[in-house]
Amino acid sequence: MIEVKELTKSYGPTLAVNNVSFNANAGEVVGFIGPNGAGKTTTMRILTCYLTADTGTATVAGFDVLEHAIDVRKNVGYLPESAPLYADMGVVEYLKFMAEIREIPKSQRKERMRTVVDICGLEGVIQKDIGELSKGFRQRVGLAQSLIHDPPILILDEPTSGLDPTQTIEIRNLIKDIGQEKLVLFSTHILPEVAATCSRILMINHGQIVANGTLEELVNQVRSENILHVAIKGTEDEITTKLRQLEGIIEVTPVSTDNGIVRYEIASGQDISDVSSTIFNAAVQNRWDLVELNQESIDLEQIFLHYTTGQTRGTHPPPKPESNEDVDSTEEE
Ligand SMILES: Nc1ncnc2c1ncn2[C@@H]1O[C@H](COP(=O)(O)OP(=O)(O)OP(=O)(O)O)[C@@H](O)[C@H]1O
Ligand SMILES: [Mg+2]
Repeated sequence: MIEVKELTKSYGPTLAVNNVSFNANAGEVVGFIGPNGAGKTTTMRILTCYLTADTGTATVAGFDVLEHAIDVRKNVGYLPESAPLYADMGVVEYLKFMAEIREIPKSQRKERMRTVVDICGLEGVIQKDIGELSKGFRQRVGLAQSLIHDPPILILDEPTSGLDPTQTIEIRNLIKDIGQEKLVLFSTHILPEVAATCSRILMINHGQIVANGTLEELVNQVRSENILHVAIKGTEDEITTKLRQLEGIIEVTPVSTDNGIVRYEIASGQDISDVSSTIFNAAVQNRWDLVELNQESIDLEQIFLHYTTGQTRGTHPPPKPESNEDVDSTEEE
């Protein structure tokens, strides 16, 4: 449904999108994440025909963004980063206007408007002008217009930004529901939102895609050694020495001792289930009281830091960006 090949876009000397390629299909919710200035909005603007790329190609719903912009727009609902809403228009008037622009048949307009008002929780404000609305409600109106023509593809630039927790949860659930059949590509800085909503994660940094996969795949890519948290009741020196002699263990670090229970962090280069059995068997043989044996979990925040800053322990170094000296990624528009 979305096919992006080697897209590049510069603003003057700033290389905002650098050789970006990815695909996305119906039934997917793709979370597009990356630091400020990474190139998310620029990519989304190209996919929705609001910007043209310098080089590379993109097709959306089978239509080329350059050659068939009108068909692309018909198939896409787009929530821009800062929604271009008309302040002196009423909410209903605006949605009606958008329904007309989207060429929704007259007979269906009311029904579609009712549906999006309901989905986006706009009942309480339909009498107001957009200019009178709070930030969160303006965001809801922006979302409502992106859904009005019931498009097969939704591209949402930070859809939950500015929303209250209740509405955030509702929009998240909505994105999940829509993603059952359609394709949703959305950007966000709220990482738990990605973990909760997305079937796939697309991570961009300095204009380049640095990770693309399910959360599980990214966790496995990032994990270079398996860290186990182990707690054993007994004598620290004896246990530490014996643990260090076990096969497959790289490093044994005592972390704390409390009430005779010694807590360790154990790094291993082997498969986690093999190391767990080795430690378990050693505990049985030595008659240790094994109180805890857990694998360290890697969350999306750690993955994000890994790919965008190279931080986090127990991980491979992030891939080196290709020559990209012109990028001034910290600067905002
Ligand atoms: N209209 C513009 N003119 C000049 N430079 C721009 C313009 N829009 C974006 N840029 C630059 O392009 C780069 C990518 O910006 P973009 O808005 O795509 O990032 P983003 O990932 O959406 O960031 P954020 O998370 O802050 O929304 C940044 O360096 C930004 O300063
Ligand atoms: Mg942006």
